[in-house]
Amino acid sequence: MSESFRILVLPGDGIGPEVMEQAVRVLKQIETYAGVKFELEYALAGGCAIDAHGTPLLDETMERARASHAVLFGSVGGPKWEGLGFDLRPEIAILRLRKELNLFANLRPATLFDPLIEASTLKPEVIGGLDLMIVRECAGGLYFGEPRGIETTASGKRGYNTETYSTEEIERVGRVAFTLARGRRNEVCSVEKANVTESGLVWREVMTALHAREFADVKLRHMYADNCAMQLVRAPKQFDVIVTGNMFGDILSDLASMLTGSLGMLPSATIGATQAERFNPAVYEPIHGSAPDIAGKGLANPMAQILSLGMMLRLSLGMPKEAALVEQACIDALAAGARTPDLGGTLNTTQVGDAVIAHLERITAVPA
Ligand code: NAD
Ligand code: IPM
Ligand code: MN
Repeated sequence: MSESFRILVLPGDGIGPEVMEQAVRVLKQIETYAGVKFELEYALAGGCAIDAHGTPLLDETMERARASHAVLFGSVGGPKWEGLGFDLRPEIAILRLRKELNLFANLRPATLFDPLIEASTLKPEVIGGLDLMIVRECAGGLYFGEPRGIETTASGKRGYNTETYSTEEIERVGRVAFTLARGRRNEVCSVEKANVTESGLVWREVMTALHAREFADVKLRHMYADNCAMQLVRAPKQFDVIVTGNMFGDILSDLASMLTGSLGMLPSATIGATQAERFNPAVYEPIHGSAPDIAGKGLANPMAQILSLGMMLRLSLGMPKEAALVEQACIDALAAGARTPDLGGTLNTTQVGDAVIAHLERITAVPA
């Protein structure tokens, strides 16, 4: 009997369903080629779930996520739901999945594919050969710290949030970053604002101690987040692995995506402690959002979603060969000119999907 994997598919809102459709086509192609079975279950998440069920993520969907081998997530949100309170917004769907599945490390690889060297707004010599990994803590920090809220004051309102990081939270994401670096160029750059925040200071101290205790073979340096933003544009190839907190990781990864040509190119894997176990429902999600400005127009680049499924094959399903084939098919399609407008191309979302499938068929074909 062939191996079978349960995948929960949450396309979400805006361009989410458009790019997910292409990723699922690629997944079906891999299923045929690899002789495995993907049992795809679909559910609503985000604004569409609010419209249908009055909540961004049903408890039942959360349970289905827990019971799956991996979750493939699209994107959520949009102007329609912007007026809702923070406990009811579409974005809660992805935050809840990360938090409740204990997924604390969001891996965001910014790799420049050779065919796109001219597509970036940066000079070829600055980005050629770029291969950097951002490890973003994603279950703590400013996103989840208490107290938070909005209060009424004599002159208006006061909104407040709290950034907190504990030794345990920093060590567990630090271990992910150092371990990844060992399989790469062996360098970690830890990014915070230790010059102005207590949480940043603790982050730096804990990273320094963890490094000395468990990872002295890896090169570690520290950098303030503002300088890091500048260095990413000035000389991005100086970085191998960047490890940082939730908010800085969110911002720096959108910035890094443009080094690779487009926000529509950056995939991600959101992993946690459960990775060590056989049963590991990690979440695979492009870093971009629901792009309301282009939704429904066929303009969305499906590469980030397709590459996210590549990460799923590699990290959750033990299929590195198939993951590499998906990546190669994307690179070959880009080299052949299959590009959406964000990359300067003229193809629509489905046509780019067609091209990736065609190249996948070609490279997986048994020679006659
Ligand atoms: P966005 O990432 O949706 O879009 C930013 C810009 O990049 C837009 O001009 C958009 O057209 C473009 N873009 C994004 N993805 C693209 C793709 N695949 N192909 C081509 N162009 C692409 O960010 P935003 O506009 O700030 O946010 C829109 C909504 O998405 C908000 O509700 C936000 O909260 C949500 N959001 C969700 C996620 C997620 O679900 N993981 C991530 C980020 C933002
Ligand atoms: C991302 C998104 C999310 C985040 C939002 C939608 C909650 O911007 O995945 O980068 O801020 O983490
Ligand atoms: Mn983001």
